[in-house]
This record gives sequence, C-alpha cells and structure tokens, in this order.
Amino acid sequence: MDALAAVGIVTPNAPRSQIADQYRVIKRPLIGNAMGKGATAIENGNLIMVTSSVPGEGKSFTAINLAISIAAELDNTVMLVDADVARPSILRVLGLPSGPGLLDLLQDETADLSTMLLKTNIDTLSILPSGTPHDRATEMLASDAMTRLVEDMGKRYPDRIIVFDSPPLLLTTEARVLATHMGQIVMVIHAEKTLRSDVEDALHTIEQCPVKLLLLNQVRTSAGGGYGYGYKYGYGYGYGDKAV
Ligand SMILES: Nc1ncnc2c1ncn2[C@@H]1O[C@H](COP(=O)(O)OP(=O)(O)OP(=O)(O)O)[C@@H](O)[C@H]1O
Ligand SMILES: [Mg+2]
Repeated sequence: MDALAAVGIVTPNAPRSQIADQYRVIKRPLIGNAMGKGATAIENGNLIMVTSSVPGEGKSFTAINLAISIAAELDNTVMLVDADVARPSILRVLGLPSGPGLLDLLQDETADLSTMLLKTNIDTLSILPSGTPHDRATEMLASDAMTRLVEDMGKRYPDRIIVFDSPPLLLTTEARVLATHMGQIVMVIHAEKTLRSDVEDALHTIEQCPVKLLLLNQVRTSAGGGYGYGYKYGYGYGYGDKAV
C-alpha cells in the first residue's frame, strides 16, 4: 500500500484527497451500469475496458485506481485483468512477482482461471496477470479463445466487475477487437497532449460499445503546484461521442 501511495495510487485507507474524490465520481456511473442500476440495462456492463488513443496516457494508472476504488465499496468484487499483454505493467506497479495469467489461459483453454487469480490485501480485489510473454501476444487478444474467455468471465462472475487494462486503440487493431466484447469503455485522454484528431479517430473505432466514458487525465492547474483554486489532476467524462 505504501508503494502504491508513493506513485499516486489511491489506497483504501488513505486520507481524503482530491484525487480520491475524483475517482469516487468517476466510478459511480460505471458501477451503476455494471449492476444494472442505470436507466437502461447495459449488456456486459460488468466488463469495463480502460484504454486510450496512444501510449502513455494513464491507462494503467486509471485501471488500478478504478479497480481499487470500486473494490472499496462493500457490494463489489473486482477482477483487474492486465490485457495490455505486449507491455504489461500492473504487477510491476503493485510490486508483485510475475506469474501465469491471461496469455497462458489463451494458449491452453483447459487451464483454470481461478488458479491464476492473485489475491490482494484488499479482500474484494483479485488480479489476473498478463501471463507468460508470447511473440504474438497482442494478436492473441483478437483470437477466438479470447472471445470465449471474455464471455466465460462475464457469465461465470456476473456479480463481479472486471476491469481490463488494455493496449491503446490506435496502435493495434487487436485492442479494437477486445473493445467489441465490452459493456463499458473508459477512454483516458492525456490533457494538453493527445491530439484531438487522435481522440476522434480512436472514438470511431469503439463506436459500437454501448457506454463510452472519456476521462481527461493529468489536467494541470494554471496556478501551478496544486495550490489555490483549480485541479492539479482533473477529470472529465461524457457519454457517447461528446467529450466534456
Ligand atoms: N492522474 C495521474 N496522476 C499522477 N500520475 C499519473 C496520472 N496518470 C498517469 N500518471 C503517471 O504517468 C505515467 C504513465 O501512466 P500509465 O503507465 O498509467 O500510462 P499507460 O497509458 O498505461 O501507458 P502505456 O501505454 O505505456 O501502458 C505513470 O508513471 C503514471 O503513474
Ligand atoms: Mg499501461
């Protein structure tokens, strides 16, 4: 927990902070949609993909923070899946040793998912690592085995929220295939850095997903230093193709 706090991840017992409050706001619609409490039921609403247009926008940071924040709610059990298989980072950030995971499940469909899930010291949060590195890792995300696995996860754990850290949409077509299985997509946008045209192109690739939330990450305050009025790291989200 100390290591997580040091890199800015919001841990369950951390004192109230602005970023913790922001994640509380961001997770609310995601949980509502996942649990069928929104205005309309969302198919596969419990499958949530965190992605972005281009690398380095804060996908893994967001996926980990959201998973911890959702798991902190009494009613929710969360599985965090490292589906950024070519550049996995979740175990490293969490300080956990590497082990078998997603890629192993895709290569051997008789392997048992539950034996690969890592428990954490947050009771309601488990992690599925990306698994043993593979030359064609990214391609495997678009495989039939992945389709079957994601469908199986959604059905086997209908009361569990599954958060997928994933590759950026404009870098690989496989991330777009993965997106087709998801009920909700959080698209992280690095404020003042990512080109509007890239955001628009990326949004076109996930048009079919029922719920798309845009998260404006790392907004800097013009006052600097995080003092005074304004967000140091802000957020924004919108529905459909409207960024707020
Ligand atoms: N809102 C934030 N507040 C503080 N640090 C952040 C925030 N968002 C991202 N970072 C930091 O920025 C760096 C890049 O973020 P991260 O690794 O999550 O991006 P990514 O989109 O997963 O990158 P990649 O495409 O390489 O997987 C990390 O060091 C992360 O801790
Ligand atoms: Mg990442």
